[in-house]
Amino acid sequence: MAGSTADALSELKIDDWASAAPNLLKNLSVFSPEQVKLAKILLEANQTHLFEHWPEPGVDDDEKRAFFDQIDRLNGSYPGGLASYIKTARELLADSKAGKNPYDGFTPSVPSGETLTFGEDNFIQFEEAGIREARKAAFVLVAGGLGERLGYNGIKVALPVETTTGTCFLQHYIESILALQDVSCKLAQGEGPTDIPLAIMTSDDTHSRTLDLLEKNAYFGMKPSQVKLLKQEKVACLDDNDARLAVDPHNKYRIQTKPHGHGDVHSLLYSSGLLKEWLAAGRKWALFFQDTNGLLFKAIPAALGVSAIKEYHVNSLAVPRKAKEAIGGITKLSHKDGRTMVINVEYNQLDPLLRATGHSEGDVNCETGFSPFPGNINQLIFEIGPYLEELTKTGGAIKEFVNPKYKDASKTAFKSSTRLECMMQDYPKTLPPSARVGFTVMDTWLAYAPVKNNPEDAAKVPKGNPYHSATSGEMAIYRANSLILRKAGVKIDDPIQQVYNGQEVDVWPRIVWKPKWGIAFSDIKRKIGENCSVTQRSTMAIKGQNIHLENLALDGALIVNAVDSAEVKVGGSVHNAGWTIENVDYKDTSAPEELRIRGFKINKLEQLEGTYDEPGKYTLNP
Ligand code: UTP
Repeated sequence: MAGSTADALSELKIDDWASAAPNLLKNLSVFSPEQVKLAKILLEANQTHLFEHWPEPGVDDDEKRAFFDQIDRLNGSYPGGLASYIKTARELLADSKAGKNPYDGFTPSVPSGETLTFGEDNFIQFEEAGIREARKAAFVLVAGGLGERLGYNGIKVALPVETTTGTCFLQHYIESILALQDVSCKLAQGEGPTDIPLAIMTSDDTHSRTLDLLEKNAYFGMKPSQVKLLKQEKVACLDDNDARLAVDPHNKYRIQTKPHGHGDVHSLLYSSGLLKEWLAAGRKWALFFQDTNGLLFKAIPAALGVSAIKEYHVNSLAVPRKAKEAIGGITKLSHKDGRTMVINVEYNQLDPLLRATGHSEGDVNCETGFSPFPGNINQLIFEIGPYLEELTKTGGAIKEFVNPKYKDASKTAFKSSTRLECMMQDYPKTLPPSARVGFTVMDTWLAYAPVKNNPEDAAKVPKGNPYHSATSGEMAIYRANSLILRKAGVKIDDPIQQVYNGQEVDVWPRIVWKPKWGIAFSDIKRKIGENCSVTQRSTMAIKGQNIHLENLALDGALIVNAVDSAEVKVGGSVHNAGWTIENVDYKDTSAPEELRIRGFKINKLEQLEGTYDEPGKYTLNP
């Protein structure tokens, strides 16, 4: 090893670059040739300070080698390596110091897209097209985020979507993908790919717990080979405008690191070879989604249909947005020099941009009562072919940003170290104008109810704005399911208002179903006959595929469990004490955290329950 290191040193013309760091120079014999090359990269990028405190060889040698193991990871996980990271950081920090506006020279306008209303004819047509395409899809869940705002101790995908059945987000997502797979493959028997893959981006904060959740639950029914976990690495922190890497305050032989953001998903899909594999297997669509939106799959089939019919390379799911609402707007930006792009513009940048480009009133509602710029919910559908082509050019790198907190107006020092960050929705920023980038707007009640905020912060949300809490996330499921069944002809009572954890919410009947019962509206309509009604205090859990409702008057709780080969007709008058909702204070530490953060628990007093484990035709009618 010593010989080869010496060779490497002479090959690397050591005296030309290492003299700036005498403490490193003394230690070079401790390292492998690869590690010496990494040292060269650091010194050439003006990072001599990293070695200032290094003692003589023989002291802490293992720690010094571990330092270069970390440098190797940081270098290998970033497109273009650390040299490129530091160069980009210097440029972005200089722009930030100069107060440069990233949208200088751009004029905003409303891009073209599709606005769908649930249950209308065109919604149903797009949904049917989407179901056909689904077998050619691959799903990508970004689940590397810490969820600091929510403050939940576990991983977010392990939280219940709703507490009537206790189904967690990951189970719900997997069952939804399997349901799509099932209906889509039935439509196109024998053609093309079948098992729909799921890639999950994790991070050091979530990886082992996500794997554990999958393994303990037999991958929730998916084949383990269908699921791929891609772990994102953190990136190096920066101490100053010259992008000097920050030494970890707890270990002088480590660089401090922080998350890079969900934009990492693009480079990981590219570098892992997964995207190539999907394309080679005949897959056409990559669908990106986030960790806690229990409504998303109600919007997925129709949105995928829009991508297919409109031939969108990039399709962003969006919801109607009130002017100035704290949600990014999907915007077309046209530059004086001819560049155009359709991207998400953060709400605090949209208003000044509009004002600076001749819209004196800034971000205002149009005649529909909403902003003409639809609200981005960061669920994206990409056509894999053009996506891979683009990533091959960029190596998966996407536009980053830096957000340093300066000590004072001179902008020369930071309050704490910063780092580059990237967002997955910024992918279209590098696309050529010929790329077909559009959006699909659907009602918020149908498509978007994320769980991001802790009870205390949610309770402070100004009236009329969404709480985005575990409370509102669960109530949104009941509202959406109630509205969908109403549209399918069921008489559903209006909700009542209740306050949980300081948040006033509408409480609809607690209606839930397995995704395989109804992944598309047309499916649901087929399973609902005449004369069905559900009172507000009721609970209905449909846990099976072939369950048909007819002449059902429900006032209480009804639970139906059935294997796929059992066909069950449910009807008659069901009246019992039902399941009630009881307040739980978020400060009550005797209650499980999953319940505390939503502010209520379900009290299972009495129910009618039917369980059908064997194939056959059955009737459940009290
Ligand atoms: P959020 O905006 O919810 O951020 O991320 P977060 O980091 O999870 O939560 P806070 O900001 O600390 O409260 C949106 C989606 O992106 C994923 C999250 O898991 C979530 O699905 N994400 C975020 C990543 O996968 N990696 C990241 O580095 C950041």
